[in-house]
Amino acid sequence: MASTKRIVLIVGGGIAAYKCLDLIRRLRERGYGVRAIMTRAAHEFVTPLSVGALTNERVFTELFDLDDEREIGHIRLARDADLIIVAPATADLIAKMATGQANDLATAVLLATDKPIVVAPAMNPRMWLHPATRRNVAQIVADGATLVGPGIGEMAERGEAGPGRLAETTELIAAIEQRLASAGDGSGTTHGKPLTGRHVLVTSGPTHEPVDPVRYIANRSSGKQGHEIAAAAQRLGARVTLITGPVAIEPPGGVRIVRVITADEMLNAVHAALPADIAVFAAAVADWRMAKLASGKIKKPSSGEPPTIKLAENQDILKSIGQLPLGRPQLVIGFAAETDNLLANAQKKLKSKGADWIVANDVSTVTGVMGGDTNTVHIVSGDGVSSWPRMSKAEVAEKLMHNAATAIAAGPNARQTAAE
Ligand code: CTP
Repeated sequence: MASTKRIVLIVGGGIAAYKCLDLIRRLRERGYGVRAIMTRAAHEFVTPLSVGALTNERVFTELFDLDDEREIGHIRLARDADLIIVAPATADLIAKMATGQANDLATAVLLATDKPIVVAPAMNPRMWLHPATRRNVAQIVADGATLVGPGIGEMAERGEAGPGRLAETTELIAAIEQRLASAGDGSGTTHGKPLTGRHVLVTSGPTHEPVDPVRYIANRSSGKQGHEIAAAAQRLGARVTLITGPVAIEPPGGVRIVRVITADEMLNAVHAALPADIAVFAAAVADWRMAKLASGKIKKPSSGEPPTIKLAENQDILKSIGQLPLGRPQLVIGFAAETDNLLANAQKKLKSKGADWIVANDVSTVTGVMGGDTNTVHIVSGDGVSSWPRMSKAEVAEKLMHNAATAIAAGPNARQTAAE
């Protein structure tokens, strides 16, 4: 159904700015009214003429160019919108948002609005990974912005690859529609979205532990269950941070993705993403890494003897959160992937890791769980065990997040009983 909602699109000055043209076209096709604000720097990458031709409106740039009373000032631009999207959001624009600057029209509108804000970063990977950008991004997310992307891949600059690509248009539209839906009809209702206003953190996929520059230790986790949980939490209205190891599947739309490789990176990303209301640890984290990483490729010794490698234990991420003395999420959910003594091992993990629930599953090869689309799980809590029938991983995710929503709505003391 065509929408009658009005979107203000803020175009930042980056090489990806030209992609805003496709976004405007797709939004208009869906019936959205689009007003564009371009920063000064954006003019270097895309012309106001082409942006205006697609929005069918004048394009706004200057804070003080009200030459007659028909002009629209920043307060009205902010007030007339149902949602504001910043695409591409440069490191500079994000920094200004994080510190509440308002020295041009784009930043003044962002500061003046009380409407949902979706931010789609695009920048060089080093800028994205810089601690200053990490701090600024965490700040704008804490202030209520929804982050979409960035994607990972080749950059426009030669030889540069990593996180920093503007999210695809379909992902941007999914994030806009999700934010509009969770904003409801303006009456503050969140019908069918019991996780609205909650932050859900999910780990997913395997981790890879390098042995030397060309080899690594890994496991068969596909990331399907963790990604489904992130998608289900997002559908229920939550703001979701999905921290994922290397996987071959697409990330769900409308969630913030943090891509990591090693267990150590996952640990840091999880702690950086706090605070959260619910934390779900679905990742198959490698238990060990190399005690000493070889700086060069390990060669076959002339003696013919295979080399021995010495391992060191990785820190337990779930345990580090389950036992947090301060700032522990209200509900901490772990997984137990076992091949033997499923329930006894799960119960042990529940206690030793300080989790509220453990989702236990049998990952023996015959079950086809690893990499497959179905799962047979048992929810182990302080109250006992609830065994669910075999379901798709999407159904497990949906039911788990519904139960989690019920548990945290009931308050801290009720969380053990809602795992039925
Ligand atoms: N986990 C974690 N960090 C680790 C190891 C595990 O966060 N370094 C989490 C997993 O995400 C999962 C739970 O702990 O939620 C159980 O992981 P699992 O590998 O099954 O258990 P382990 O504690 O590693 O025990 P074991 O390998 O002996 O079964």
